[in-house]
This record gives sequence, structure tokens and C-alpha cells, in this order.
Amino acid sequence: MTKIAIITGASRGLGRNTALHIADKGSDVIITYRSRKEEAEAVVAEIEAKGRKAAAFQLDTADISTFPAFVESLRRVLKDKWQRDTFDHLVNNAGHGEYAMIADTTEAQFDGLVNVHLKGVFFLTQALLPVIADGGRIVNLSTGLTRISAPGFSAYSAVKGAIEILSIYMAKELGARGIAVNTVAPGAIETDFLGGAVRDQPDMNKFFADIIALGRAGVPDDIGPMIAGLLTEDNRWINAQRIEVSGGQVI
Ligand SMILES: NC(=O)c1ccc[n+]([C@@H]2O[C@H](COP(=O)([O-])OP(=O)(O)OC[C@H]3O[C@@H](n4cnc5c(N)ncnc54)[C@H](OP(=O)(O)O)[C@@H]3O)[C@@H](O)[C@H]2O)c1
Repeated sequence: MTKIAIITGASRGLGRNTALHIADKGSDVIITYRSRKEEAEAVVAEIEAKGRKAAAFQLDTADISTFPAFVESLRRVLKDKWQRDTFDHLVNNAGHGEYAMIADTTEAQFDGLVNVHLKGVFFLTQALLPVIADGGRIVNLSTGLTRISAPGFSAYSAVKGAIEILSIYMAKELGARGIAVNTVAPGAIETDFLGGAVRDQPDMNKFFADIIALGRAGVPDDIGPMIAGLLTEDNRWINAQRIEVSGGQVI
């Protein structure tokens, strides 16, 4: 049976790239977006052009009050479009960054990061537990910054670190259902993240090229195919791992 993957925050960046590569490997894809409806619809069209089925939902993953309605709409679409009650793979990708020293970080910045990267991932996964199929997979996005200390990223890295712990708890609790859970931790990648800093600021780009063993900043194509590969049968025995995908950043 064709697998169905849900990827949050797939209107652009790493989520979009992952969605397209998952489709290339033969799965159908459901994406979510926060505000960029047109970009999300374009991703759906690209997936359909590959001969796969797709759908897009608006979802603010930082607002857990919206999750019951999302799950209801999801169940309806699964039934209508796929004649199924379940989906197979969940990629918790949606999120934004903040750059602020500890002394300057505001409560709003802190809460925004916690809500999207930790609380949202926790409760969205919880809400989807009755809908994800036994034998399914979950991938949670972290960051290479959890392995080091990079001034200005304390709050962001702290919530991403929490996701790494959450992932091993998910792996243990969901293992009885045959659901594998892993964390993928990208290094610096050229996307819109942090205002496109890695992509658009030459100094920043060079900084990362210099500290990455493979000699350049990452691009979305370095990440999407890896996550798509992780979700194939070839990698079914990988579980409860933090996998850094950074070209060898700070080694
Ligand atoms: N790029 C990097 O260097 C890097 C490195 C390590 C980890 N990561 C992680 O990788 C993930 C994706 O980052 P990216 O580089 O692809 O960022 P991006 O290009 O800025 O894309 C972010 C995506 O997440 C969605 N999103 C943001 N906040 C959301 C919310 N509250 N609710 C729902 N969707 C939301 C956006 O939707 P809209 O388009 O609708 O706004 C967009 O689709 C994030 O978890 C990030 O922390 C990125």
C-alpha cells in the first residue's frame, strides 16, 4: 500500500524539499503551512505532477487549540482522497529561529520558540497518535546547534535540545506499536530561516563554509533526500537516534 507522509511547515525551505523527495520515493504527501497558502498549493501541484496524491492544510503548529479541528479535517481528507483512516509518516519540521543573547531575549521570543518547537510538536504528535498507523515513523527536526554552544541561540537550541529528549521518549513509548522515532539535526542550511541569513549574508555564508568539513553551507537538497531516505524500508531499524546532517559542522 502507498505510504502517506505528513510534513509540517512544507510551504518552503526544508519541509518543501523533504515533501518533494518523499514523493519521488513513491509516497503520497500531506503538507501543512502557516501563512503561505500559494506556496503550499504550488508544492501540492508539484507533488501531483510527479504522479502522487497530495493535500495541504493551514495549521499554526504553535497554537495547540487548533489541533482537534485539524485532526478532524485530516480524517475527512484521508477518507475522501485515500479511503484510509490512517497515515504512515510524520515529519515535525515547522518552525522559526530567533537570534538573541540571553540578556536580551524577551518572553515573547522565548514563548514563541517553546510553542512552535516543543509544545506544538508534543501536542500535535499526541493529537495524531490515533491516526498514525502502527509501524509508522516520526522524524523530529532539531539543529546542529544542540551539540555546541553558539552565543545568541540559547533559547532556540534549548527547545531543540528538548525535542531530542522528547524523541527518545516517543521512541520508547511508541515502540510497542512498531513506530520508530528519530531526530534529524541539520547544520546551517540556505533557506528563509532567520531572514535567509545563511543564504543571503555573504559573511555568514563564509563563516559556515569555513567551519563545515565539506567546505560550504548546506542547501535544502542536502536535507530533504536524507529525511526521505530515512523513511524508507531500507532504514526501518534506525530508531531513537539523533542524526546530524551538516556536512561535518564543527568537528
Ligand atoms: N535552515 C537551517 O539552517 C536549519 C538548521 C537546523 C534546523 N532547522 C530547522 O528546520 C526546520 C525548517 O526550517 P527551514 O530552514 O526550512 O525554515 P523556513 O525556510 O523559514 O520555513 C519554515 C516553514 O515552517 C513554517 N512555519 C513556521 N512557523 C510555523 C508555525 N508556527 N506553524 C506552522 N508552520 C510554521 C513556515 O510556513 P509559512 O511558509 O506558511 O510561513 C515554513 O513552511 C525548522 O524546524 C528549523 O528550526 C533549520
